[in-house]
Amino acid sequence: HLPSMERYSPKDKQSFSYKTVVHRWPVILTNIVSAVVSANHELDQSETAKLAEGKEIIRKLSELKHHMGRNRVLEPIPEDGDANRACYNDELAATPEEDKRWFTMNWLFAECYLYRLLRSFFAVTTHWKSYDPFFESKAQTYKSSSGAIVHLANALNSMVANVRLQDDWEAKSSPLEMAFWEMVQADLWGNATDLSLLVDLNYADLQKLQAVGAAAQQEQATRILRDDLPRVWELLKTVKGGRVDIVLDNAGFEVYTDLILADFLVSCTPFVNTVVFHPKMIPWFVSDVLPGDFEWAIESLLNPEFFSAHANISEADTQGLIALSNRWRSHVASGAFHLSVPTSTPIGTDAPAANFWTTQYAYADLPALDPELLAELQKSDLVIFKGDLNYRKLVGDCKWPTTTPFEEALGPLNGKINLVSLRTNKADTICGLGPGIEERLDVEAPDWRVSGKYAVVSFSPRTL
Ligand code: F6P
Ligand code: MG
Repeated sequence: HLPSMERYSPKDKQSFSYKTVVHRWPVILTNIVSAVVSANHELDQSETAKLAEGKEIIRKLSELKHHMGRNRVLEPIPEDGDANRACYNDELAATPEEDKRWFTMNWLFAECYLYRLLRSFFAVTTHWKSYDPFFESKAQTYKSSSGAIVHLANALNSMVANVRLQDDWEAKSSPLEMAFWEMVQADLWGNATDLSLLVDLNYADLQKLQAVGAAAQQEQATRILRDDLPRVWELLKTVKGGRVDIVLDNAGFEVYTDLILADFLVSCTPFVNTVVFHPKMIPWFVSDVLPGDFEWAIESLLNPEFFSAHANISEADTQGLIALSNRWRSHVASGAFHLSVPTSTPIGTDAPAANFWTTQYAYADLPALDPELLAELQKSDLVIFKGDLNYRKLVGDCKWPTTTPFEEALGPLNGKINLVSLRTNKADTICGLGPGIEERLDVEAPDWRVSGKYAVVSFSPRTL
């Protein structure tokens, strides 16, 4: 499926993609070099094979940074035994040379390609195969989010303990609906904790974006530029003992808020019995959830020291976190929480274990390219797409006029599943807005498309 609209690319020097190639990617690459340098430094000198491989990774990273700065052509991804190579290499082979340079290739492709290429540096080694260069930074931000973590744990635990919460849930503005609204807002703004953005966003800003509590949520709600949550609620009210899928985005605080929402749906509502989580299988856009990050987010809550170094946490708070973690572990054990790790090989010709989530494709291509995954998502009553990159893929990262209907931008995916996107705005593309919103924000907050301070909740129902 070819998008009917032009995509964003760094050819446009006013775009966030241009800023990304010039400023953000070099910093991300430098940070990976530092991580590998310090990991290498900690090795015993006798580990010569691992040391040598580490040095080779550093060499490739420096070369990549050099090529990027000089606007070189994107080279095919070398054979590395990992999935999703052909999808990138075939598209590169079909792209004219002037359009496949770091400063000319469409941004969605180039950025996905970057993380797949980085993976090859590690995948070809013996000793660094399972190394995640972003793990330390994910762990640091998780720890420093302890204030919001404790707040949400206490809020959810008391909802679970409140036997009256489901009273009159069918009524308009019922306590259950209000609680749902709070939990979704926490999950939506949890997306602000995206490490690939911390290059631009300072730490104090981040803490503000994580603000929780009634007053903060009221204020945040004014920055949701399109809010389809009432439609999502109407849909959920028709579901009994159903299934929700979450296409995960970032590790640490964001996946914690995903788990909070999932637990709320399973433990506090009659609508949902199962939540299926879709992680990435390779380190992706710095902070995305790998299977290990998912388990680790739950396990860390059992360790009081993990968070207490960063905040004043009372004994009652610690017990609350332990209760939360135990409940989540029992959801995992019972299958109420299911982490979906792909085993099939539908994409391209070079699988093992291809995985649609780490291809470059827009989700408009999902029905044609991965019918098995579509069939799986169709078993779900609602698929929640988290974060900015998932939104970019939903709308093809195109230069839509901002009032284009969301359904139109979804292309062939439209109507095939019930979906909602919870996205804080961190890239140029956006659609589905009411008339006049773009014009007002261009004056009031010129960086509204990319600052992470505005958001959209965009819903599209299954009709087919
Ligand atoms: O750098 C590109 C980008 O997609 C940004 O738009 C965004 O800051 C980040 O990467 C990914 O964000 P998220 O983790 O919300 O998908
Ligand atoms: Mg991400």
